[in-house]
Amino acid sequence: MPAESFPSLPFEPFKTKVVERIPNPSREEREKALERANYNLFNLKSDEVRIDLLTDSGTGAMSDRQWAALMMGDETYAGSRNFFHFESVVRSITGFPFVLPTHQGRAAENLLFSTLCRPGSIVPNNMHFDTTQAHVLHQGAKPVNLAVAEAYDPVSSEPFKGNVDVDALAKLLDREGREKVPLVMVTITNNTGGGQPVSVANFREVARVAKAHGVPLYLDMCRWAENAYLVREREPGQAGRSIPEIGREFFDLADGATMSAKKDGIVNIGGFVATRDESVFDRLREALILFEGFSTYGGLARRDLEAIAVGLTEATELDYLAHRIGQVRYLASLLEARGVPFFHPVGGHGIYLDVRRFLPHLSDDDLPGQALAVELYREGGVRTVEVGALMFGETLRSGSKGLELVRLAIPRRVYSASHLAYVAEVVARVYERRSTVRGVRMVYRPERLPHFTARFAPK
Ligand code: F0G
Repeated sequence: MPAESFPSLPFEPFKTKVVERIPNPSREEREKALERANYNLFNLKSDEVRIDLLTDSGTGAMSDRQWAALMMGDETYAGSRNFFHFESVVRSITGFPFVLPTHQGRAAENLLFSTLCRPGSIVPNNMHFDTTQAHVLHQGAKPVNLAVAEAYDPVSSEPFKGNVDVDALAKLLDREGREKVPLVMVTITNNTGGGQPVSVANFREVARVAKAHGVPLYLDMCRWAENAYLVREREPGQAGRSIPEIGREFFDLADGATMSAKKDGIVNIGGFVATRDESVFDRLREALILFEGFSTYGGLARRDLEAIAVGLTEATELDYLAHRIGQVRYLASLLEARGVPFFHPVGGHGIYLDVRRFLPHLSDDDLPGQALAVELYREGGVRTVEVGALMFGETLRSGSKGLELVRLAIPRRVYSASHLAYVAEVVARVYERRSTVRGVRMVYRPERLPHFTARFAPK
């Protein structure tokens, strides 16, 4: 196990103004809920969940300034002043001149891939996330994951496991050329592989290779501020810089980006696609109007754009990020103390339990990640998500052994340290009785994005 130092209690740089009651289902109720949900935690009702770590997407708490921004909604169909504010904030953060709002990240993915990809295209990424992969496939294109080898090693303490294997990318581009590869994507942070950051140095190399082949480079910038915070801490020469400055290093090297503002925009809904290329923008805008809405609202209420404009800036504040990433590390320290195996080093938005070391008695056929997620809910009403064979099928695999993880994603500004202590206790209790955990089998498998709607039964 690599030596990592974890801080103690993360200081909340905010105080509570509104509270929401937390449900507390009994063991018997949890057991019934599991049965009713067909052992798929996406089918649980929120009232059946005590601590919800299913996702950090759209689940954050907005600030008083964001709630106030909602009241400034100018619900004009075309030309709302909220759009121009939103656009100016996105431009000032990214430098991309052409910005289109979308209702969330996958809508941006749909617009970008339907505009740039054809059947038979190849889209390299460090690692595709689930909807990104599904949208590439939906165009008849092929997603290829090109993260460095360490990205698949849950134990190594390599600081930039989100990095792209630049040699592999160069080889792919040499072989296939820009005819076959309409864009290169890089996801910051790498959500599929443990929320791990990409370094500036690596992204610079990626940009050099993409440019040499004449292939546009796009960022999946959902968690760009968290990525910049980790760069600031870990990359030589980056320590004194601000989050926007570090972010700009990435954006200046890219041709555009997709964004789910439900992450580092700290809103409950929203996203965008942005580009430097006016001809791409024209085509994206046509698709946007067809599928989402006019280009100054993109499927959102205009007040939502105002809340995004505020949230995007709040997500770059150092005390906010210190607390956010401090929470992840605090939970890590509690789990480490109980010997629970998880993906190292801990990244930006959650803990990823290392299922192969957690449940060594289960085989791949037992769907061990799903089995563990079910067990954490059964033990203490904690909802998590499998990130492994079920979510990604074979594409996540590298060599003979693929990653099999269970993600505990921490919503932004929502839970306290005592909630995290409760989570650690639940995980540790399951770990102590791990040999009693049984596998699950899939009794219904949908064709696409199976983890959302599959049904399971205990083995
Ligand atoms: N890209 C990444 C890296 C993501 O993590 C997500 C969503 C998306 C794109 C799609 O954005 O949900 O707004 O349509 N991730 C969520 C998660 C769902 O749980 O990590 P969306």
